[in-house]
Amino acid sequence: MSKQFQQDNLIGQSNALLEVLEHVSKVAPLSKPVLIIGERGTGKELIAERLHYLSARWDQSFIKLNCSSLSENLLESELFGHESGAFTGAKGKHEGRFERADGGTLFLDELANTSGLIQEKLLRVIEYGEFERVGGSKTVQSDVRLICAANEDLPALADNGEFRADLLDRLAFDVITLPPLRSRTEDIMPLAEHFAVSMARQLGLEYFGGFGAIAKEQLMMHDWPGNIRELKNVVERSVYREGSEGQEIDHIILDPFASPYRPKTRVKTLERQLQPKDAPVATETTDDTPQQVSLTHSSIEFPIDFKEYTENAEIDLLQRALAEGQYNQKKTADLLGLSYHQLRGILKKYNLLDKS
Ligand SMILES: Nc1ncnc2c1ncn2[C@@H]1O[C@H](COP(=O)(O)OP(=O)(O)O)[C@@H](O)[C@H]1O
Ligand SMILES: [Mg+2]
Repeated sequence: MSKQFQQDNLIGQSNALLEVLEHVSKVAPLSKPVLIIGERGTGKELIAERLHYLSARWDQSFIKLNCSSLSENLLESELFGHESGAFTGAKGKHEGRFERADGGTLFLDELANTSGLIQEKLLRVIEYGEFERVGGSKTVQSDVRLICAANEDLPALADNGEFRADLLDRLAFDVITLPPLRSRTEDIMPLAEHFAVSMARQLGLEYFGGFGAIAKEQLMMHDWPGNIRELKNVVERSVYREGSEGQEIDHIILDPFASPYRPKTRVKTLERQLQPKDAPVATETTDDTPQQVSLTHSSIEFPIDFKEYTENAEIDLLQRALAEGQYNQKKTADLLGLSYHQLRGILKKYNLLDKS
């Protein structure tokens, strides 16, 4: 059985990513378990595939399973299989992922919240390379290389007794930690171009017209909590909504829910601004007093560059307001309590005028 080597789709030139790829090449040939840690959307699955295809098992199966989406019983029988009649509805014998991955690689995604029972069975199969199917007593052997992924701090979970420390030790022969997109901003534009070009191709456009100044600024300034998966969605959405033959993308639709008609939700817990205890209290506040919304980041690591910091905050505010005002400058000015001319002055200062 031969599998297509499909790794040329890994985009990025940042040092952080290159270091990860070097690490991957080094650990791939070993048949040892590897743990991949990273926020959602950082490319854990892609890295697991790369580990497999760079290993001596590359021409054997690469089997994956997401552990967070199944109940304990289903997960157990998906992993280890079951004998016929093992439980109600168990029709016929079922081969588990460990059997199907024999000789190859098994990728277990989102492992952090698996139950004690599953963790115990995993420990045994790693230790002895054998297990029993659910409802069976025959011992099955399997030679599997395990790659696991989690987006949580497993050592902290182990310290709290929520994850078996002995299992963690076995799984973590080596650990690859994927950097979030916001800490490798050099990769944003190459990734965005890549996703835009393939979306344009899907839409049957002859070529992709590129991103305009505002769109680039938006892409670079966004925090990307959903990382590369979020970037992919955002870019594809923008190309499909805004892109036409040879036309630049003027702005990016970061939030598909953004609309002046979006229903407002009551925020239950207002973050209160804490006052130092010994500060003189100027006015009495009651629970009904509207709380001031703080825009500043709660944990600033000084020293910072004050000018750069405040400029970035202004650009961020402008972009949010522009999006909320649907890129209408009059509406945007109203949203910010500025006059139209004041807004235009500020947009000009940040080079955001030409395209808004
Ligand atoms: N370096 C990269 N180059 C190109 N696409 C990437 C890269 N990293 C991740 N992706 C894409 O981003 C999406 C999320 O990646 P995935 O591996 O599923 O993330 P995770 O498993 O960490 O949630 C997938 O569509 C994947 O193909
Ligand atoms: Mg994943």
